[in-house]
Amino acid sequence: MAYNGASVVDEIKNRCNIVDVIGRVVTLKKAGANYKGLCPFHNEKTPSFMVSEDKQIFNCFGCGTKGDVIEFVQKYYNLDFHGALEKLAAEYGIDISKSGFGDDSKRAALYELNREAAAFFYRNFTTKANPGYAYMAKRGIEPATMRKFGIGYAENDWNALRSHFEAKKADKQSLIALGLLSSSKGKEYDKFRDRVMFPIINTRGKVIGFGGRAIGDGTPKYLNSPESIVFQKKNNLYGLNLTRTDISKEDCAILVEGYMDVISLYQHGVRNVSASLGTALTENQAAMLRRYTNNVVLCYDADEAGQNAALRGMDILHKAGFRVKVFHVDDGKDPDEFIKKNGREAFLQLVKNALPFADYKISLLRKKLDLSTTEGNVTFLRKTAEVLRQLSPVEADVYIRRIAEEYRISEGALRREVEGGRTEEKPRRREEPAPAYEPEQAEKGSFRKEQGEKGPDRGEMMIQRNLIRLMLEKSSYVPLTEPYRDVFTDPACYRIFSLILSSYRPDRELDLLSLTDSLEPQDGALLQNICRTVRLAGRDQEIFKDCIRSMDEKKRSKREKEIITLLSVLDDEKDGEEMNQLTLELMELQKQKNKGGWKG
Ligand code: CTP
Ligand code: MN
Repeated sequence: MAYNGASVVDEIKNRCNIVDVIGRVVTLKKAGANYKGLCPFHNEKTPSFMVSEDKQIFNCFGCGTKGDVIEFVQKYYNLDFHGALEKLAAEYGIDISKSGFGDDSKRAALYELNREAAAFFYRNFTTKANPGYAYMAKRGIEPATMRKFGIGYAENDWNALRSHFEAKKADKQSLIALGLLSSSKGKEYDKFRDRVMFPIINTRGKVIGFGGRAIGDGTPKYLNSPESIVFQKKNNLYGLNLTRTDISKEDCAILVEGYMDVISLYQHGVRNVSASLGTALTENQAAMLRRYTNNVVLCYDADEAGQNAALRGMDILHKAGFRVKVFHVDDGKDPDEFIKKNGREAFLQLVKNALPFADYKISLLRKKLDLSTTEGNVTFLRKTAEVLRQLSPVEADVYIRRIAEEYRISEGALRREVEGGRTEEKPRRREEPAPAYEPEQAEKGSFRKEQGEKGPDRGEMMIQRNLIRLMLEKSSYVPLTEPYRDVFTDPACYRIFSLILSSYRPDRELDLLSLTDSLEPQDGALLQNICRTVRLAGRDQEIFKDCIRSMDEKKRSKREKEIITLLSVLDDEKDGEEMNQLTLELMELQKQKNKGGWKG
């Protein structure tokens, strides 16, 4: 197949300078080796949107949006990948007509054949009595829903579609490539026979393939179009053509397994839904969804296969940066059965109670292991720690406390397990002398001793360590951290931070070894330890945001306590005005606290 899309992408990336493309819509100023401007993807007054000419990428430190020139065009102009390529190619005079992407005449011909086939199946379905319609009606699907999804019927005939296309002199090879016809001993025949036909339509409205369901118990239950230049299963999600606006509006996508789940939920008014069609969710599908939302709720079948698919899907979505929640229906085998029986409200209640992905994984462990035995307990501890290590350290900290309490296991043991694993995964490098430094010692040594009982708590210590690690990873975090300098309450961390601040140059990364050399041995060892044990796993922006959120929360809660104390000592007669002010401030603080956001 003449499908050299990759080279077109390279060609476009080579010829469309990102500074030029972004510079047309964002005012960019040179800042060191990079360019800087106001981010077009969130509201801001001071620029945190950086464009690197060297690396040909953009990155906003405020909202975390980043990517290459194609991703910028996709996001800014709200286009899909192909649309972005076309736009850039047109503007820069790049000829993409010979590539798979731009081979419009060939692709258009295939889309047209699929559309014609869908229309043919639809006529079969709607203009005369047929087993397909009867089957769907029996399953409770209303005519309006059938029309909305373009459902059709392939007759129980080896030649119906073939003759239809023959009369139109359509290209047989194309029909075979699309999987509409099969051929045997030089003769072509209809591939889909006696099946309900679900057209699969992409977000640009093109019919790219079909799923054909057997009527009743025939096998295989579903017959799907093969991969072709217009249909790659891993790049599409069923129903998204209809539901993406709802997904965007609700800021949440409910992902299910099957065609019928999407259709049935949609009919019951749950419209922010899509299906990965029985296969494991792919990174490409995750990337597609990211255009519409950051929140996904997985609702896969309750069976073993569904649980495993949920586990895999969750990891992919989590890596792609989604907030993921999961649930299984507790009545019936899948969402379709559940909503038919229990209705929309009951289903939405389940969505509302879906578990965040870490809780889901831990609850599965809990079910599988016998916590009354020592062995079960140890395994639970180890596996739970594995789950928590996938979270940012700040988030993990919250979980450690909660899980320890909820499952009555030792908080210290769990914490050691989580942190121990972080070190194990990143073995000491040979060329560096292994610093004789243990976290326990650091906490006792550096601040417990100097500050006595008033030292920073675990969470605060974690934030300080994370921030130091982030600044070393990317020096651009130094100016972002500076306004929060008060957070460095641990004297050793404060000394490290001060050194970082004085060594910072906007156009250079910090050098770990020279920093270590400039510190007292104890502090140097602490710095080395931080760099070795705090894992960022490519999630630096989220970790930074978590830190900021957590610091803001701490600041607010400190102020809240202060106000409560003040209110109790002030005199209503004399200090009435001040008390009113404070009360208003307190109410505002408490309102913010209760807002909490989607994460609930
Ligand atoms: N699937 C498939 N081929 C099969 C079985 C399943 O492609 N032989 C895909 C289909 O996309 C199907 C999804 O996996 O929608 C989920 O499978 P399953 O749960 O078995 O089917 P349901 O969606 O529940 O379909 P139905 O309600 O019609 O039984
Ligand atoms: Mn089903």
